[in-house]
Amino acid sequence: MAHEVRESRLLIVGLGLIGGSLAAALRDAGFEGEVLACDPDADEIARGVEMGLIERGDTHLAMLLDGVSMIVLAVPVLAMREVLETLAEQGVADDPSVVITDVGSTKGVIREAAEAAFGRLPVNLVLGHPIAGSEKSGVAASDPHLYAQHKVILTPMATTNRRAVARVRSLWQATGAEVLEMEVERHDQVLARTSHLPHLLAFSLVDTLARQDERLEIFRYAAGGFRDFTRIAGSDPVMWRDIFTANRQAVLAALDDFEAGLARLRQAVSDGDADAMLSTFDRASHARHYFDSLLNQSSYQAEYQMQEQTTLCYRAGPGGDVRGRIRVPGDKSISHRAIMLGALAEGVTEVSGFLEGEDSLATLQAFREMGVAIEGPHQGRVTIHGVGLHGLQAPSGPLYVGNAGTAMRLFAGLLAGQAFDTELTGDVSLTKRPMGRVADPLREMGAVIETAEGGRPPLKLRGGQALKGITYDMPMASAQVKSCLLLAGLYAEGETRVREPAPTRDHTERMLGGFGYRVEREGDTCWLEGGGKLTASPIDVPSDISSATFFLVAAAITPGADLVLEHVGVNPTRIGVINILRLMGADLRLENAREVGGEPVADLHIRHAPLKGIDIPVDQVPLAIDEFPALFVAAANAEGVTRLRDAAELRVKESDRLQAMADGFAVLGIEHRLYDDGIDIIGHGGEGPSYGGGRVDSLGDHRIAMSFAVAALRASESITIDDCANVATSFPGFIELARRVGLTIEAQQEDA
Ligand code: S3P
Repeated sequence: MAHEVRESRLLIVGLGLIGGSLAAALRDAGFEGEVLACDPDADEIARGVEMGLIERGDTHLAMLLDGVSMIVLAVPVLAMREVLETLAEQGVADDPSVVITDVGSTKGVIREAAEAAFGRLPVNLVLGHPIAGSEKSGVAASDPHLYAQHKVILTPMATTNRRAVARVRSLWQATGAEVLEMEVERHDQVLARTSHLPHLLAFSLVDTLARQDERLEIFRYAAGGFRDFTRIAGSDPVMWRDIFTANRQAVLAALDDFEAGLARLRQAVSDGDADAMLSTFDRASHARHYFDSLLNQSSYQAEYQMQEQTTLCYRAGPGGDVRGRIRVPGDKSISHRAIMLGALAEGVTEVSGFLEGEDSLATLQAFREMGVAIEGPHQGRVTIHGVGLHGLQAPSGPLYVGNAGTAMRLFAGLLAGQAFDTELTGDVSLTKRPMGRVADPLREMGAVIETAEGGRPPLKLRGGQALKGITYDMPMASAQVKSCLLLAGLYAEGETRVREPAPTRDHTERMLGGFGYRVEREGDTCWLEGGGKLTASPIDVPSDISSATFFLVAAAITPGADLVLEHVGVNPTRIGVINILRLMGADLRLENAREVGGEPVADLHIRHAPLKGIDIPVDQVPLAIDEFPALFVAAANAEGVTRLRDAAELRVKESDRLQAMADGFAVLGIEHRLYDDGIDIIGHGGEGPSYGGGRVDSLGDHRIAMSFAVAALRASESITIDDCANVATSFPGFIELARRVGLTIEAQQEDA
């Protein structure tokens, strides 16, 4: 067996389901010693022998003690005292080679009983509790798999012999259980809340309903909810009477908390207070999902991805219209930052327009895993109960941020200054992306960070480091690196200054300002001083100009198009796409311009007009960095050559976007020349189809997938696009919205 159990003779006292299942599991695992059992019921012993679980047994304990190496007490909690007294009388505790352990559901009362029986706590007594059970009872119901992948909690004292603990540990590990250690008091409190209270509620609910006159009727119609909630009310009544008697105090404390919560909910129901109900249910529902992901030892997102055995393809039909008035989802960059700063602020931050895409949801979930209460999202509304800059708690495992480079890099900055260690992991695409660009300057600030080879994820950050401000000259124009350093700067001593070689999106600086944190700028350098605080502030997230881009290009290339995109963020550091399309001749107007929560917003009105090829101004590259895949499609429909240079950053996005677009263009027959840092695209203008159709690969990159879907508007045949599931990272509902304005797209699952 994997975990060898060296006990020569094991004695189980109380041969019910728990004791019988232990014997069965050990037999299954190849245990070669003898198993004896003591039970007041001679029939149980006879059945145990018949089932091959035990060699022999007796109704009198004293008859079985000779030569045993380990005694497992599996009698009900309140029967323990008598058994312990018999063991004391027989002098068992005086023999250091004999280990005594138990399986009782409460530990305090058993420790007391042992002290009373032996006059002290024997060093070879190891109290324990397997967290497994069933509504069935009796040895006949024994299940050799009852403990597999379940937890067993041991509660040794400081005086307990560690060799005795190791022997009990081996015993349980052989059954397939995971063994943990905990203090007695903590065990009793935890179990009162997680096991004893729910049993009490289940017993009470069934009893209350069963007493009502129409009980037959009620049970006949009781559906899944009743069944799920009350399964445990079928458990052994004597055992549970003992547990509630033994763990009275901890159970009462848990019950008080529960009653207070129930009273609040009762009030909400009686007042018809929909918000109060929703926020309670919402918190509970998210907590329940989180609990599932903990049980499955995977993150929210990883669990979602593991279910994906198939790949999602888009089939975009040639031609179509682009007309109407739509609003695309919230800005991804601002959504990430809203959650981050809201969590670190003091007070409650209300966010509206939040992007419910997988990337920003991963950020939200990561903060929940660090103890931040977050309600929602519900139709873009999120309520964050900020914990202050020093209020995050250590997560129980690695933080999984999916496909989100922004999350990983910004988190690296804000986690570098925490008191606890963290690990950041992501999906296959993110695992290939460079993180040295943040790890290196963070190390200069005093952070301790480990990366995988070549500066790739996962990132392991050591907590408890004293950071100091630095002046950093960024080698590339990156808003993520800038934001990472500013967030680390909040925790650093002195000033953190970042110089950017070209302007990059400034959402972090603006939002910090909105939360009352002073960020200064002079020319190409911005800086802040560590040690301040953030104060909660409402955030209205505008629509994402990067998502709007697919529809801007769709309208720009489609004869007869006339489209309005409402409430789009037009921050000057993000409007490269507007500038570039206008230079190409697009008929694009900003209407109803206004400022919302510190960010400029406008409705974008675009009508079809013939496009011409241009040399893309180098200063526009960082301002349109995410929009190039779609802009390449505009270029393929323009008259003449469009040249892009100084855009090597495109090679390290969610995919190598220069290569991915060039490969797709080759399939569709679009003329182009690829360079290390750019591309030339040769378009022929006109109003007929500009290229053919075919099957292209998005390489799991959301923006490549959506760009080719838009390209189909001017293709002669349909375009099939592989690996499109990641569109959900930034643009949930893309297909529905695209269809609404007149594109022909279908999604289909294919085997991976
Ligand atoms: C982002 C910055 C840009 C951009 C990314 C989002 C941000 O990345 O491409 O989609 O939210 O700060 P870089 O900082 O790597 O240029």
